[in-house]
Amino acid sequence: MDQNNLIINLSDISFAYPGSSKVLDKLNLQFHQGDRLGLIGPNGSGKTTMFHIIMGLLKPSSGTIEIFGRQVNGERDFRSVRERIGLLFQDADDQLFSPTVLEDVAFGPLNLGRSQEEAKAIAQKTLELLSLSGFEDRVTYKLSGGEKKLVSLATVLAMEPEILLLDEPSNGLDDNTKARLMEALSQLDLSFILISHEIDFLSETTDSICEMRNGKILVDEEVYVHPHYHRHPHGTVPHEHKP
Ligand SMILES: Nc1ncnc2c1ncn2[C@@H]1O[C@H](COP(=O)(O)OP(=O)(O)OP(=O)(O)O)[C@@H](O)[C@H]1O
Ligand SMILES: [Mg+2]
Repeated sequence: MDQNNLIINLSDISFAYPGSSKVLDKLNLQFHQGDRLGLIGPNGSGKTTMFHIIMGLLKPSSGTIEIFGRQVNGERDFRSVRERIGLLFQDADDQLFSPTVLEDVAFGPLNLGRSQEEAKAIAQKTLELLSLSGFEDRVTYKLSGGEKKLVSLATVLAMEPEILLLDEPSNGLDDNTKARLMEALSQLDLSFILISHEIDFLSETTDSICEMRNGKILVDEEVYVHPHYHRHPHGTVPHEHKP
């Protein structure tokens, strides 16, 4: 792979929460411009932890992090990383904090120095992209789980990131909404790493899939995840299978 296009380069990253055993153990990850990478792995295997390390929300005990070709260490480095990489939190309640949807989605652009009018226009355009027009004045904390997930994604996209880290974006979405999300992702033409437990969703949205296991990332050639076709009672009712 072309080293010039290397955007995220994690080398030998180890991490443990205080008082616990290692979650990440000399983990390596190379993510390039244009990659649409899926990440799967058991509950508690460290997927979310790795995203938080990339964003500088957690500090590894050892290893190096290079992003956009530069080693990142302190808070100042990570501040610029956070302007270019958008993280969709696994839990929407960690993302949303404003009283209304429009205020929440406009918050990011405002914070990046846009005027009130510009921020509002960007927020409305982003809501439209996710088929959320009409949600502007809805009270954020009263939204359904799936609606919160989509609005969270809108808050991330409104900041016009270059790269997305998507932590279980399809979790709790019905099939139609999932299809809308896939459509929006393909329209955006952005590089992203997407965590999901749904192999079919990963196969449709990403170009390669890797697996988190024993604190490390196993790349495509080492994992044999695949979609499959099958037949069983009630099979005509839309449904999904967990890995
Ligand atoms: N703040 C924390 N303090 C202590 N331990 C934590 C903390 N956050 C996560 N852990 C533990 O670290 C491990 C990895 O958690 P993480 O959330 O990264 O897993 P994950 O792969 O994202 O799992 P899931 O698929 O359930 O989202 C788990 O055993 C979890 O219990
Ligand atoms: Mg997680």
